[in-house]
Amino acid sequence: MPKLSSLLVSFCVALVTFVLTPVAHPQQTPRASQQPQLNLMPWPANIQTGSGQLVINSDFTIAISGSGDARVRGAAERFVHRLSQETGIPLRFTPAKSGAATLTIRAEHNGKKIQELGEDESYVLDVNQAGAKLTAPNPLGVIHGLQTLLQLAAPGPQGFAFPAVHIEDAPRFPWRGLLLDAGRHWMPVPVVERTLDGMEAVKMNVLHFHLSEYQGFRVESKKYPKLQELGSNGQYYTQDEIKDLIAYARERGIRIVPEFDMPGHSQSWFVGYPELASGPGPYQIEKRWGVFDPAMDPTRESTYKFLDKFIGEMAHLFPDEFFHLGGDEVNGKQWDANPKIQAFMKSHELNSNADLQTYFNQHVVKIIKKYKKTPIGWDEVLNPGLPKDVVVQSWRGQESEATAVRNGHRALLSNGYYLDLVEPAAKHYMVDPLSGDAATLSPEQQKMVLGGEACMWSEMVTAENVDSRIWPRNAAIAERLWSPGEVNDVASMYRRLEVISDWLDSVGLTHHSALREMRERLAPGRVDPLSVLADMVEPVKRYARSSSGRYNADIPLNRLPDSIPPESRVARDFSALIDQIVAGTASPDQIAAARQWMTAWKYNDERLAPALQSSLLSEDAAISRNLSAIGDIGLQALELFAANQAAPPGWREQQIAQLEPMKKPQSELLLMAVAPVEKLVQSVKQ
Ligand code: ACM
Repeated sequence: MPKLSSLLVSFCVALVTFVLTPVAHPQQTPRASQQPQLNLMPWPANIQTGSGQLVINSDFTIAISGSGDARVRGAAERFVHRLSQETGIPLRFTPAKSGAATLTIRAEHNGKKIQELGEDESYVLDVNQAGAKLTAPNPLGVIHGLQTLLQLAAPGPQGFAFPAVHIEDAPRFPWRGLLLDAGRHWMPVPVVERTLDGMEAVKMNVLHFHLSEYQGFRVESKKYPKLQELGSNGQYYTQDEIKDLIAYARERGIRIVPEFDMPGHSQSWFVGYPELASGPGPYQIEKRWGVFDPAMDPTRESTYKFLDKFIGEMAHLFPDEFFHLGGDEVNGKQWDANPKIQAFMKSHELNSNADLQTYFNQHVVKIIKKYKKTPIGWDEVLNPGLPKDVVVQSWRGQESEATAVRNGHRALLSNGYYLDLVEPAAKHYMVDPLSGDAATLSPEQQKMVLGGEACMWSEMVTAENVDSRIWPRNAAIAERLWSPGEVNDVASMYRRLEVISDWLDSVGLTHHSALREMRERLAPGRVDPLSVLADMVEPVKRYARSSSGRYNADIPLNRLPDSIPPESRVARDFSALIDQIVAGTASPDQIAAARQWMTAWKYNDERLAPALQSSLLSEDAAISRNLSAIGDIGLQALELFAANQAAPPGWREQQIAQLEPMKKPQSELLLMAVAPVEKLVQSVKQ
């Protein structure tokens, strides 16, 4: 219990703050008590709210001064278009003289010709009744500041308006990335473009483009055309498309870092060029998911000749300073089985497969550096012989991240940010690149942690539903990488994320619309009862689906687990409601809402039954029945609880016994209603 004296101190501090700054309230970290909540994500480094607001109307004008960097004008035009869409107010980009404009934008300098790691991304944003002013040293700050301003637009009594604020913002980490895996499932150009739009909206600045895998080679090579001709089923980006995507990303303050995974994960290369492999061909494009044997032959000079020419071509195509060589998950089986490779290892005193991979890495790193690029590799590349300027990207944990830094490498964290594991946003949100083992690094060493990357591996996503796996959870990771480390209130994150998730629709993302369409396809005419079920289930987590053997690259991903978000907003809200009910703090309206929900479940199976005859939904018949049974149990429990009435003898045990088997995954789904209803049952008086 808080002591009276400490309460008095907080009261006095609040009073002093009010007296000293009657219109400016510092909002260092978003807390539950702060109302109204600004729906900003990522939360700015420094923000003070003022009084009053800037009303948005059709006279809105913009003045641009300072740098002539074309990205400033482009960002302003996109801003106006989005603002018009969001508010319904007809707005066109209307340049004005500085004094008269509603919004003045000033970037002091041009950015680098090719966007660089560590360019200044800061901005200052001032909004008051008279107008808004956005200033930044570099166009990147303008791009970020305009997204903040868009997030501030909200309807009020006078129509849409920006609240008065003073924001001084800058990122905590210079590398805030998203890996998109176009290798396993093909991601067409429009998917990549809208992913970049989403990244701009949450201030992420690196698209890590995973472009080759066992299952596909996705970029046109003019030097080695059989890579895409035989390795992609016709699904690859032409070099012109890549150039366009790079320009599209640059406009949005995003660098594109290509990854060509070597020496493992490379089976698709071998379909056209089997001579690169360590085992005898011929090779086919892999359809299954998993880790497979084919790996490049590190012992042949011809491998490096090929890679030199190929990397030279790609280093030219992708202008970014960094070039990712992969380096993960080589199982070594082809190396073990090849007598020539074994003899080579003996004669070169390479005593293990790890030594052989280091030998390979050293050659490839040399090639990458010859083309004036900085190499990046996954954890496994870390070895004493690895040149210090290679950046290590940790997918296995903060321990390997910290080890890399202690060994003199710059590092990125991806462990904890794997979006393909379909885990809750809160879990990713609480992972910090400087926590765990990384927290024990010295301040100097911590500066070598560049940031992190969310990873959208694509075994279990297609172009159709990939948005729903990236968004909105990626916004929580974006906040972790941009905002001060102390911004870590999960309840605030979720409250803002719900709004930001809807706001991201206006960016053109399809995380809501695509899932709705998928459910309409699954249950034509019965999408409402299907959605009642869909709202209370989540897909099984981690690798449960991809490792089940049921799926491969040819199997459509069009079942119920594919058509629901990884994390159910409704389930979270229902669970919170039950918490309030059992704590005795729920209002009559809240109790009525819980009753309404459970009544809908109780009768839902009947409404959904005809659709459950579809071959795609028949496997969901049992879970639909279970949801209805839970509705029934929950209603009984709620009536007893609300009436403060004791349960009949044996009732509780009977309900718990019925709920118990429903905790197990069923047809790749988790029924999220079980735990809260069990809590309610347990709370009924005996
Ligand atoms: C990885 O997940 N193998 C990088």
